Amino acid sequence: MLLWIGLALLTAVLGLLLYWLLIVTEGLYLGRRVVVWLYDITAHKYDGIKEFDPDAEQFFLIRPLVVRLRPIPNPLVLDVATGTGRLPYFLLEEPTFNGRIVGLDASGKMLRLAGEKLRPYGPRVSLVQQVAAPLPFPSNQFDLVTCLEALEFFPSDTAALREMVRVLRPGGTLLVTRRKGPEGKAFIGRYRNVAQFETLLTGLGLEAVHTNPWQLDYDQVFGKKPVGGGQ
Ligand SMILES: C[S@@+](CC[C@H](N)C(=O)[O-])C[C@H]1O[C@@H](n2cnc3c(N)ncnc32)[C@H](O)[C@@H]1O
Repeated sequence: MLLWIGLALLTAVLGLLLYWLLIVTEGLYLGRRVVVWLYDITAHKYDGIKEFDPDAEQFFLIRPLVVRLRPIPNPLVLDVATGTGRLPYFLLEEPTFNGRIVGLDASGKMLRLAGEKLRPYGPRVSLVQQVAAPLPFPSNQFDLVTCLEALEFFPSDTAALREMVRVLRPGGTLLVTRRKGPEGKAFIGRYRNVAQFETLLTGLGLEAVHTNPWQLDYDQVFGKKPVGGGQ
């Protein structure tokens, strides 16, 4: 009897551990290749699970960005970990946006779906299969760099953010997301509260760093690269 109880407990603990490793933290603690493999094998389900609401995306994501981009003729945007092309798609759907977008992701399958979705926009968007750090671009290139719902899965959020700041042109805007809520704290050793996250961005040389509540699990965090802050 005791043996069966012991086996049941062991199975439950192993099940919970696997759930945490593969579902909650999406392979983070098993290494980058596992994270990317999990996205590759689930890519076809991604948009169906997320069910992005076009009105909410327009109001809470795209509008704050086009306001910042308005003074720039033909802005160049980099979306790091673009996935199935969420940000490029909604930004290109916005009639007042007249720029170009580069979408980067490590998962070939996620990018393939992004490519299908973004085909109507032709040369206004290009997709690159690459990891987030190092970024394969020269310094001071992009008017806007975004990274949505992805930083917590990178081997080092600091290294990736440093790269995003490097490729941002002086005066350009960074928009990234901070994981929050109970699941945010499940990223043991990786969780940062608002103050810690903002301090990280300020320490990387950004100014006007501020946090806006956004979705249940994520805040939006904005920062600006100072003019004269080129690396
Ligand atoms: C939750 S999805 C977010 C996708 C998109 N930004 C969105 O908001 O829908 C996370 C993305 O990060 C990508 N990713 C994970 N680790 C990466 C890495 N080290 N470098 C580049 N992309 C990575 C995954 O392939 C996946 O497409």
